[in-house]
Amino acid sequence: MTEQPQNLPVHIGFIMDGNGRWATEQGLPRSAGHKKGAEVVRTVLEHAKKRGIKVVTLFAFSAENWKRPKSEVDTLIKLFRQYMDEDIRELQKQKVRVTFIGDREKFPADMSARMTEIERETAAYTDFHVVLALSYGARDDLIAAIKKIASDILDRKYLISGIDETKVRDALSTHDLPYPDLIIRTSGEQRISNFLLWEMAYAELYFTPIYWPDFNEHDLDDAIDAYSRRNRRFGKL
Ligand code: IPE
Ligand code: IPE
Ligand code: MG
Repeated sequence: MTEQPQNLPVHIGFIMDGNGRWATEQGLPRSAGHKKGAEVVRTVLEHAKKRGIKVVTLFAFSAENWKRPKSEVDTLIKLFRQYMDEDIRELQKQKVRVTFIGDREKFPADMSARMTEIERETAAYTDFHVVLALSYGARDDLIAAIKKIASDILDRKYLISGIDETKVRDALSTHDLPYPDLIIRTSGEQRISNFLLWEMAYAELYFTPIYWPDFNEHDLDDAIDAYSRRNRRFGKL
């Protein structure tokens, strides 16, 4: 590992892409890619924590991913269930805060209830925070925020002129997180696919051709090193 960079990201968002192509190239069913992908999450979280990252948001299932064939959606739901039973239990033991963004009501009732329970059980942990984006779409989140703001105005909590960045930020499901500093997308696709649109306005973007199931701690180090060498100007000189 290279020397500890000075400018560490606080919050990293991962667009974990390429599970299917990884499996297909190995002559395996796509489900094998998702399974391996879940194992990689374990390694990456462990390493992120070790590197001093405070918040990790994992894009695991988008609002649009419901449009995939039912068999694939079922496989993914089974994996999330297993992940909640095994991996999240382990994270809880390590005092990791775990929360969820996205439309949890789209999942079976016992799963959404479990998500809420996990959030409650880990709410007091402050060292490391893992956010799972499940059935998440940034546009949906912005629509919900706009509705909330409109309803606050109708309730006369503030005037239209009182809408500012803080009001929008507070109305988003990510209101309790710092904005992401670094967004990493695997698999070679160079797009955002409806992830954290508002929040990533000034994030550094890092695209790697590596498929998610092949992504490892060295690749995370490379991304963090690249981040630490960048000059974030936020519009200033
Ligand atoms: C990412 O891998 C996981 C999810 C989106 C659920 P993909 O399943 O998108 O894999 P590719 O992009 O088809 O290779
Ligand atoms: C983005 O991957 C969503 C997740 C990683 C969960 P997709 O595979 O769904 O994105 P597109 O369809 O290539 O844009
Ligand atoms: Mg994909």
